[in-house]
This record gives sequence, C-alpha cells and structure tokens, in this order.
Amino acid sequence: MNKKLTDAINTQINYEIESAHVYLAMQSYISTLGLDGFENWFGIQFEEELAHARKFIKYMNDRGARVEIRGFEDPRNEFSSILEVLEVSLAHEKGVTDRINNLMTIAHEVKDYAAVSLLQWYVDEQVEEEDNFSKLIGQVKLVKDAGLYILDKELLTQAKNNKNIVIE
Ligand code: FEO
Repeated sequence: MNKKLTDAINTQINYEIESAHVYLAMQSYISTLGLDGFENWFGIQFEEELAHARKFIKYMNDRGARVEIRGFEDPRNEFSSILEVLEVSLAHEKGVTDRINNLMTIAHEVKDYAAVSLLQWYVDEQVEEEDNFSKLIGQVKLVKDAGLYILDKELLTQAKNNKNIVIE
C-alpha cells in the first residue's frame, strides 16, 4: 500500500479509538443524569467506534500494511446538560467526516481503488452518524422535561428491539 495512505489510515485508526473514549466519557457523565436510554445509546456509540477502528485494522492486515497504535489526549468528562453532550458529539462527528473525506481524497490521488471502496462505507456511515445526532438535538430542543423522559424510554425500547447493547 502507498505510504501516505497507510500513514493516514493509521492516524484514523487512532481517531476512531479516541472517538470511542470520547463517547465512553460522555456515557459516564450521562449516567449522573438518570437518563438510561441516552446512557445506553452512548454505550452503543462507544462500541461502534471500536468497530470502526477494527474494520480499518482488518483492512490494513488484509492488504499487508503495518498497523501502528498510537496514544491520544484525555477525553472531556464534564458537561452542563444532555443537549451540550449532543452538540459536542455532532461537532465531533463533523470533524470525523472531514477526516474521512480527506482519506478518500488521498485514496483517489494514489489510485488505490480498494481503499476507495472501503472508505465509501465510512462516508455513508458518517451521513448516518451526523443525521442521528442532528435529529436528537432537534428532539431534545423540542421537548420539555416530561418529553425528555418519554424520549429516553423510547431510545431504550429501540435499542431492545434492535438487540443492541442494553444496560439494565
Ligand atoms: Fe467512527 Fe462516529 O465515526
């Protein structure tokens, strides 16, 4: 594999693991609010970010490229509300989208079409991730406290129906 692309994917693997930590820290904060559905949903985001890292790692291994695991800064642990958590999350995902798009640009530059195919999955995933956070921000702004309670229970029901991780 091209070295520039390999380096960039290694950096992205690190960002995906860093994203997992960002959401785990948010989940920990949310646990103090008593919002079980949101708490569970952020646990799912944590698992998804690790899966994103693993998908890149498997791809690199399949292509015979060397994976390098790096470190990162502490995630933010304190917030003022669930709305702030969601807004920070959306901003974070927009940053991830920029990074994925940059990776796609490099893959095209070096004519690595297998990488282009892989990265298309991440491009599509980012559309979904940004949409999820945008919708939740809109819903939280719309509802008042009673509505927030209903939304929280609904998230938990959705997770159970989809057989996603549910913390009882
Ligand atoms: Fe791995 Fe939330 O993007």
